[in-house]
Amino acid sequence: MTLKPMVVSVALLCALPALARDQIDKSVDVKVDALLAKMTLQEKIGQLHQLSGREATGPESAKRASQLAEIETGNVGSMLNVKGAQDTRAMQALALKSRLKIPLLFGLDVIHGYKTVFPVPLGEAASWDLEAIERSAQVAAREASAAGLHWTFAPMVDIGRDPRWGRVMEGAGEDTYLGAQIARARVKGFQGARLGSTDRIMATAKHFAAYGAAIAGRDYNAVDMSLQQLYEVYLPPFKAAADAGVATFMNSFNSLNGVPATGSALLQRDILKGAWKYPGFVVSDWASIKEMVPHGYAADEADAAVKALNAGSDMDMEGEVYIAHLAQAVKAGKVPQKNVDDAVRRILRKKFEMGLFDDPYRFSDPKREQVVLADPQHRAAARDVARKSLVLLKNERNVLPLAKSGRRIAVIGPLADSKRDLEGGWVVSDVRGDVVTLLQGIRGQAPGAQVSYAAACAPGCANADGFAAAVDAAAKADVIVLAVGETWDMSGEAKSRTDIGLPGRQTELFQRLKATGKPVVAVLFAGRPMIFNEIADQADAILYAWFPGSEGGNAVADVLFGDYNPSGKLPATFPRNLGQIPITYAQTMTGRPVVDEKNIVYRSAYIDSPNTPRYAFGHGKSYTEFGYSGLRLDKATLRQGESATLSFELENKGKVAGTEIAQLYVRDMVASIVRPVKELKGFAKVQLQPGERRRVTFTIDPDTLSFFNGQLKWGAEPGAFKLMVGSASDDIRLDTTLQLQ
Ligand code: NOJ
Repeated sequence: MTLKPMVVSVALLCALPALARDQIDKSVDVKVDALLAKMTLQEKIGQLHQLSGREATGPESAKRASQLAEIETGNVGSMLNVKGAQDTRAMQALALKSRLKIPLLFGLDVIHGYKTVFPVPLGEAASWDLEAIERSAQVAAREASAAGLHWTFAPMVDIGRDPRWGRVMEGAGEDTYLGAQIARARVKGFQGARLGSTDRIMATAKHFAAYGAAIAGRDYNAVDMSLQQLYEVYLPPFKAAADAGVATFMNSFNSLNGVPATGSALLQRDILKGAWKYPGFVVSDWASIKEMVPHGYAADEADAAVKALNAGSDMDMEGEVYIAHLAQAVKAGKVPQKNVDDAVRRILRKKFEMGLFDDPYRFSDPKREQVVLADPQHRAAARDVARKSLVLLKNERNVLPLAKSGRRIAVIGPLADSKRDLEGGWVVSDVRGDVVTLLQGIRGQAPGAQVSYAAACAPGCANADGFAAAVDAAAKADVIVLAVGETWDMSGEAKSRTDIGLPGRQTELFQRLKATGKPVVAVLFAGRPMIFNEIADQADAILYAWFPGSEGGNAVADVLFGDYNPSGKLPATFPRNLGQIPITYAQTMTGRPVVDEKNIVYRSAYIDSPNTPRYAFGHGKSYTEFGYSGLRLDKATLRQGESATLSFELENKGKVAGTEIAQLYVRDMVASIVRPVKELKGFAKVQLQPGERRRVTFTIDPDTLSFFNGQLKWGAEPGAFKLMVGSASDDIRLDTTLQLQ
């Protein structure tokens, strides 16, 4: 297949959105061009060089001295890992000694909060609450910008369908539609309406592209994927981020169909900067340019620099290969001058848009830093999204919510009083606020209860020395709250696991406690979907808490005691066993589907496991029950380009107020490309008082029914579509058929 037709088709489909067009402020172009005209080749290449500031802001050393000299000479355009008003000021002052006084951009991985730690992104995704997610990013931006930062390397918008891959923790889960909505919310939260406000920062859509599909879930591994799959599943969240005006993109460590993403002209030049007309710049991932040498794609670092720049990687993160080799490559004619100019223009444009030429220190104000980082509202926002992110997986005989007084509660487990584990990975500020542990949350909110505590083992649970004391405490209680899970450093970058069960002896601990006969409420902390079949089968209640952040203990206690009725829904499928991975609810239809679980011979099935997951995408219980009825479709037949309205009645049938996330799924019954069994195409988060009913409406527009066809052209094909509404991907309550003419 040739590339051209595909790229053209995407260009037609993805006309530049209004927001991106507005951003192209011509007066900035004039300033950029005027500055560019004054720059030497070396100064231009300096702008493409991003340096990590660990040494430069660390103790005296020869390396530090040479890095400081480089900054002063104008050989550095941006730094990462420098934070705090004071340190950023000091580095900026050096850059301003250079001939052209071009300010530095300071970037950092502000992934789920800066000082106030929010739930890990996968946890926030479980809230399906775009406003709360936007607010989380906004608070992170407010704190980070007060600490002198201009730029975060977030959101990670990679689709993750393999929970062995540790980085599922940083994304929005397995689904393209939900992922795209969340990508947009996060970009808006970090950046605000337009760049340049001192309480917002630039965002980065990463990792471009397909990083989440690493073979066997092993981080940094190769990706081999059809273009169909790439366009349909993996690119849309990036497109959504680009449409939302995300300032930068980061490329990825993986190769995609044989070409490292960092050296991929298809991804960076043809799709991103070509078809999508993306005006921002692309930063490489950490040293990913020079890693094209071990990939076997570049002969040496000089060759890697040539290939990356020509392919559209604008800034070299910490690889030091642009600064070392590009000048020579331009002189030798291997890199056209126009490619260098294009990269520099894109970077300078952001520095102008951020207002750094007007005042290079505008983000680095120690007084503001102090005030903003102490704002108590930030903790309130963290608690709000944390409780929205909790997913009630099971609640037998309504063991939850717990009464606040008159009961003896044994709080047990290695994560019950752990502060660090509740934060999860990627916490980057050294000025973090205190973390409320689960034990503290329970004690604080149930002063009338008798609360006992036993850790049973240390996080990781390597030995059982404390089990007897824990069983003893459990035996004296009315109910056990068991806090188990991964430790904070078991998910995230370079944290792939081949066993995603409960680490160490935690399952054994659960069994010992269960044997007391007391009800067990399991609170599971993790950065990924785990497999915990014994607990799933035998616990009385299960609350999946992810890593909920600074206010985690309060948020979980809010749910345990019923001050907040849980509303989270899984943003990723939880498998029964490792052999089912990769697993998604949106699997492609097959010629031999399982129709009857009892008759799987010569069907697409396993002989030793059902196909169904342990918990499906979209699953999540409440303390109330919701009824779905009265489905209406305003037209049963639709002409191309028209929209239809689907509505239904949602009712709170229980005794307490609650929030349901109602989900719309669509199946294209017959198409020119085999389609998924169902795809999420809409959701509504609806709060209802007991007995309250509300009609919920979804618009079925042409995009709802469209997909990329065999020529990678976006459109809807005539025929029948099944429209399904329900409480989870495996809990469809109502359905109907729509005909497209
Ligand atoms: C490598 C990670 O892949 C990326 O996500 C991160 O932003 C950079 N390191 C910088 O820390």
